[in-house]
Amino acid sequence: MGKLLTLAVLGVAVALLGERLLSFWHRLAVSRELEPKRLPNCHLIKGIEYGSEDIDILPNGLAFISSGLKYPGVKSFAPDKGGQIFLMDLKEDNPRPVELRISRGFDLASFNPHGISIYVDNDDAVYLFVVSHPHYKTVVELFQFIEDDNSLVHLKTIKHDLLERANDILAVSPESFYATNDHYFSETILMYAEMFLGLSWSNVVYYSPNEVKEMASGFYSANGINISPDGKYIYVADLLDHNIHVFEKHANLSLTPLKVLPVGTLVDNIAIDPRSGDLWVGCHPNGLKILFYDPENLPGTEVLRIQDILSEKPTVTQVYIDDGSVIQGCSVAAVYEKHLLIGTVFHRGLHCEL
Ligand SMILES: *[C@@H]1O[C@H](CO)[C@@H](O)[C@H](O)[C@H]1NC(C)=O
Repeated sequence: MGKLLTLAVLGVAVALLGERLLSFWHRLAVSRELEPKRLPNCHLIKGIEYGSEDIDILPNGLAFISSGLKYPGVKSFAPDKGGQIFLMDLKEDNPRPVELRISRGFDLASFNPHGISIYVDNDDAVYLFVVSHPHYKTVVELFQFIEDDNSLVHLKTIKHDLLERANDILAVSPESFYATNDHYFSETILMYAEMFLGLSWSNVVYYSPNEVKEMASGFYSANGINISPDGKYIYVADLLDHNIHVFEKHANLSLTPLKVLPVGTLVDNIAIDPRSGDLWVGCHPNGLKILFYDPENLPGTEVLRIQDILSEKPTVTQVYIDDGSVIQGCSVAAVYEKHLLIGTVFHRGLHCEL
């Protein structure tokens, strides 16, 4: 009887693991292969070699690009020094990235920038919020951008228990923001277990100096976050659930779920076209390839444009697809007028004219 019970327990355990593995495989879209779909006017951006994980663009065409991310479970070819913020002026004829100087006293060596967000204050002061992982911990660095000087003045470092797995950030005032935590656990091994078991414990947190609290939860892996041009709706990309959540943002800053749009791919950062309100999403066509980098089987790039997301029938268009032969590991696609900038987790950046 004892042996029979052991066998039964083992049988159940194997079945459960098998079921989890299948569902994990599905979340990673391991068998997904796409035909390339190119745009006619694209070139790799000179000077960006080690990633361009997130991009945010000011109304005057200045694009901020975070580069040099090193993150557990994510490929990096970056040298053993700090990451950078690049600036590209899309109003110029041949925009080139320029590395922004950071004010003295800031620890450049451990700067490890991830999601970024710009906030322009009423007095036109420009603030840049940056999720950074110094020594693989997580903080938010707040800077003021000084345009005359191409520099960032460091204002403060924000660290909080509710931000330990912060990935992307959305500034809503000079000192407050929403951020996504892409997992519940910050320890790598537990993070993998969380992913493998398919737990939906990832969330969105609101931070202000007076109040920090969870505003939405139940994501498999909340990643990109952004806001509609009128400030009424917040969009959150769930990377492992292959969809975009739309929330209504109330005056008291709480979020009410409005709808979920399935898009069938691993959605990373979300950028907004300020003119049309369209969402532009940098996506990983195949999660296995981005998570387990293999130079013989490169992670590709997929860029989606989502129009009329609030309507009953939003239009989702695959604007650009590459198998990794041009650009690998896409994490963001941001537009400014006729410009499309495609950024990556660890690879280069692509500049296209639409
Ligand atoms: C915030 O405002 C919304 C809409 O008015 C309301 O439903 C919700 O209960 C409020 N939440 C808090 C925490 O006050």
